[in-house]
Amino acid sequence: MVESQKYALITGGSRGFGASFACLLAQKGYHLILLSKQKKGLTETDDQVRKLGGNATLIPFDLRNVDLIDALAFSIAERFPHIDLLMLNAAYLGQLRPLTHITNEFWDDCISTNLTSHFRLLRGLEPLLKKAPQSDLIFVNDALAENPQPFWGPYAISKAGFLAMAHIYKAETTSVTNINTHIFTPNPMPTHLRDKAMPGEDKNALASCDEEALRLWTEMQNTTMKELKKTA
Ligand SMILES: NC(=O)c1ccc[n+]([C@@H]2O[C@H](COP(=O)([O-])OP(=O)(O)OC[C@H]3O[C@@H](n4cnc5c(N)ncnc54)[C@H](OP(=O)(O)O)[C@@H]3O)[C@@H](O)[C@H]2O)c1
Repeated sequence: MVESQKYALITGGSRGFGASFACLLAQKGYHLILLSKQKKGLTETDDQVRKLGGNATLIPFDLRNVDLIDALAFSIAERFPHIDLLMLNAAYLGQLRPLTHITNEFWDDCISTNLTSHFRLLRGLEPLLKKAPQSDLIFVNDALAENPQPFWGPYAISKAGFLAMAHIYKAETTSVTNINTHIFTPNPMPTHLRDKAMPGEDKNALASCDEEALRLWTEMQNTTMKELKKTA
């Protein structure tokens, strides 16, 4: 691996928005580190990345295992010299149902996947973000975080905590000039997660994952340009 190589770690890189953004980054020359629960989806994204001329390292890992995340971050740090882009994107919806019908297991799965795991990953990987000359940290938000709706229970609650974490981290690190924190709220996209919540809706009316990936990339470039002007 050459020293000038850029590395991007994406949670939830096996399908949906994470896979689309991985493909975009492959075309920008990043080596991808893709983390998801199931190996099959990771292998499918890996195939797409290879077709685009890129390379990926696959990490099949269940983010509900939050107590293993410190060790995971340690082994990532042994293997990679720095991380130039970290996208906190994986999410679990479960089922839509009234709050008091939610089982302990469903609640714990949602909070651990969507919130606690990303806190632990960020804490564990921050030293690698700091080692990159310039790094991007992306929190993938959902509009429901600020506008919670009935029946979206643990998903919306975990996303609200996740958004608060993003704002807190961004505010705490304004003086860390090499980390750009981005909070991105995708428009509704026809993914597995969306289909579980809204089965039968007209998917043609939704934004494609590729369109949203490109919108995120464009927003990131604009933010970086603004930051560079500020420090010039
Ligand atoms: N789709 C939308 O309309 C929409 C709108 C607003 C915001 N978002 C946000 O966009 C992001 C991506 O969602 P998506 O729509 O692309 O969903 P998706 O297609 O369902 O993908 C979810 C990803 O998260 C991974 N994941 C779930 N549970 C996991 C676990 N326990 N451990 C490791 N990985 C796990 C999945 O991996 P496996 O395949 O291995 O399970 C998959 O890669 C999420 O943060 C979501 O909140 C989506």
